[in-house]
Amino acid sequence: MESGKNVFAGRTIHVVRDLSVDEQVYLYEKSRLIKEAFLAGDRREMDRFRLSDQDLCVYLAFLEDSTRTKESFRNAAKFHNVKVNDFTSAGSSFNKNESVTDTMKMLAGYSTRSIFVVRSRMEGVCRWLERAVSDHTKKLGLPRPAFINGGDGRHEHPTQEFLDEFSFLEQMNWDRSHLHIALVGDLFHGRTVHSKADGLRIFQKVEVDLIAPPELAMPPYYVDQMQRAGFSVRFFPSIQAYLDQKHVAKVWYFTRLQLERMGDQLLEKADKLRSAVTFDRTYMDRVLEGTSFYHPLPRHSATPTIPAFLDRTPLNGWDRQSMNGLFTRIAELGLVGGNLGADFAGESRKAPEFPDDFVEEVGVSESRKPNYKIGIKPVDNGVVIDHIGKGKSPEEIWEHIDKIRSILDLNVLSSHGVYYSATDGASKGIISLPDFARFDDRQIKMLGAIAPGCTFNMIANGAVKEKYRLRMPRRVYDLDQISCKNEDCVSHWEQHEHVVPEFHRSAENTFVCMYCERPHDFREIW
Ligand code: NCD
Repeated sequence: MESGKNVFAGRTIHVVRDLSVDEQVYLYEKSRLIKEAFLAGDRREMDRFRLSDQDLCVYLAFLEDSTRTKESFRNAAKFHNVKVNDFTSAGSSFNKNESVTDTMKMLAGYSTRSIFVVRSRMEGVCRWLERAVSDHTKKLGLPRPAFINGGDGRHEHPTQEFLDEFSFLEQMNWDRSHLHIALVGDLFHGRTVHSKADGLRIFQKVEVDLIAPPELAMPPYYVDQMQRAGFSVRFFPSIQAYLDQKHVAKVWYFTRLQLERMGDQLLEKADKLRSAVTFDRTYMDRVLEGTSFYHPLPRHSATPTIPAFLDRTPLNGWDRQSMNGLFTRIAELGLVGGNLGADFAGESRKAPEFPDDFVEEVGVSESRKPNYKIGIKPVDNGVVIDHIGKGKSPEEIWEHIDKIRSILDLNVLSSHGVYYSATDGASKGIISLPDFARFDDRQIKMLGAIAPGCTFNMIANGAVKEKYRLRMPRRVYDLDQISCKNEDCVSHWEQHEHVVPEFHRSAENTFVCMYCERPHDFREIW
């Protein structure tokens, strides 16, 4: 057994990014050794990788159906000689409306160490449990349990991603310099293709061809993420259209249509959509020598996007791929269980930081006399919020003003309006609050989140004494008024998990839910 304190023990794997690129590569190297020992039947070598700890329990909590993910994790846990418990929602207190949070807290108290593998329709559930259950085990004096996301709604499926990347590496002979891949099928609902936006970063140069009719296209935020990571991305509405051009990939990754996640309108069109992403016999001679097809499986038995006639051709990469799930999952349990990682020498994942940078002091110009008024009377002392929604339409600016007033509860003597800016003629909103000095840091932060770009002016004796420009805070949380608009998010009130919503500012100046990672325009979170 490899021993020693390591950076992986007790870690939660909710999204692919929870492991840095170096950590992912380390996982693949260990998986490769485990696979070699397994195929050679080398028991002594295999023993080196076993956790062998009867006080450690792996809980398989699959609240949505699963075959491969669940059974490969079960076999991986048995390989490790640890306790393996199944938690099924049928026959449990879920039927008495118990929350997942309460259930997992309770289970975490039944073993000295626990690893939960969770599959759920609720998006972001592992990120939330990591926080809620760790607080609970701390009180009990137990080490924090690890949560492994076995697929959360339409969001991510990191452990499928790890086995997929391992399979691509095998095909590329472990050369990470370049990968050209075609992603085919239901790219809208498929969580395994969403995880590729991060998982493919192990390759230095990445070309991704997205093959899906518009109704099943990859959501724009994953496309953005790929482009920001430097991938070159192309779009095709069907396999036919893809093969009509010359630059065809040798790695094809198919997915099935996720019928269970579709509404009635899409379901009616399913046959037509499926035919655009189903491989046909007539395409055979246009596929390049050395190509492999992959699929996370299951294939639909009646209408597979990779038809059965391909099973016994050299294109079949999916059988080897599904077996790789065992080796990568043995390695994943070894990592978070703490017996792999002592020899890890790369860069570890950095926890995100949220320095307060939402207030920027702007110099007050002495030459220009401000003429802020309440009605027709100039403001002598108090606060003026200026540049609200500058450049937007008057309707939008009025909406900002209404939001600021109601969220900050500004029911005081004051005035507001939409005006043209004296400097450049663009529209902007102003709220004047004479004799008002009761803004605390929290309210100023809220103001930055509701009306980024506005200025906050403190007036004394008719002159602007201090002026600050506000921008979106890096992190907003613990505010009664904010909520994630994704109904499948663990933090959505309808899920009744009582999660405190939290949003992080993303690169495109939107707020991203920290649980389900759904991006929101800054106005949407209120
Ligand atoms: C995938 C999943 O559950 O997202 N299956 C799997 O884990 N192997 C893909 C799918 O269900 O289509």
